[in-house]
Amino acid sequence: MVKPIFIANWKMNLTLKERVALAQQIKDDWGKNTDKEIVICPPFISLVQLAEIFKNSHIKLGAQDVFWEETGAYTGEISPLILKEIDCQYVIIGHSERRQYLAETDEMVNKKVAACLDNGLTPIICVGESLEQRQRNDSATVVHWQLNRALEGIELVDNEQLVIAYEPIWAIGTGRPIEPSDAQEILQVIRQTLIDHYPLTIVNNNIRLIYGGSVEPDNCADFSAVDYLAGFLVGGASLKRELFNQIVKLSFS
Ligand code: PGA
Repeated sequence: MVKPIFIANWKMNLTLKERVALAQQIKDDWGKNTDKEIVICPPFISLVQLAEIFKNSHIKLGAQDVFWEETGAYTGEISPLILKEIDCQYVIIGHSERRQYLAETDEMVNKKVAACLDNGLTPIICVGESLEQRQRNDSATVVHWQLNRALEGIELVDNEQLVIAYEPIWAIGTGRPIEPSDAQEILQVIRQTLIDHYPLTIVNNNIRLIYGGSVEPDNCADFSAVDYLAGFLVGGASLKRELFNQIVKLSFS
């Protein structure tokens, strides 16, 4: 069985000091744990400090975005090389908030995925439908298309890893998660899309499917029973030590 992964997406929240304090608490709580993988994704500006805090612990560091070139005149961007330099191991790519507010396209997502793998970083690729698309019964088609585009030309060799996060947009930050049975249906589509791209051994061993969208202590256990699900991308609840703790404790146990 693959190790469950819990990715905390702190988004644009907390102050420098608060982030350091929360990181320290998470390290105290989970730093020695090896059964469950914990990845913390703070704003870029806190990555260096958190890398220092998580050194010599099992907590891993992730970025919330990346650019696809390695160096050069790209004002305001952060490259995979820069992330590698500070011991970052994961990168969230194509989050719906970036697609919505920053016009991130499937093509950009694809380039970022390639750049991450080229530099030894594990991409966390986010896919998910809007409420309108769900109401039109288009969820499966949208997710299949997004994933296909994200993976175009992407090979996975040796122990290169991918994480695919299914995040229905209408469930993010709303307190209304998808029904686990509905998530199951889309995860099946995601898995089939992956099987169309890669050998089964790679799909089973190198790729984890996770869910994101209003994951809380009171719903995480139900999601843990969903076939092929191997973790969560947690936004709001990851900003509170106790809530995040409960989620990690109660899930996939
Ligand atoms: P949420 O966010 O847990 O606050 O719904 C999830 C995400 O956007 O990754």
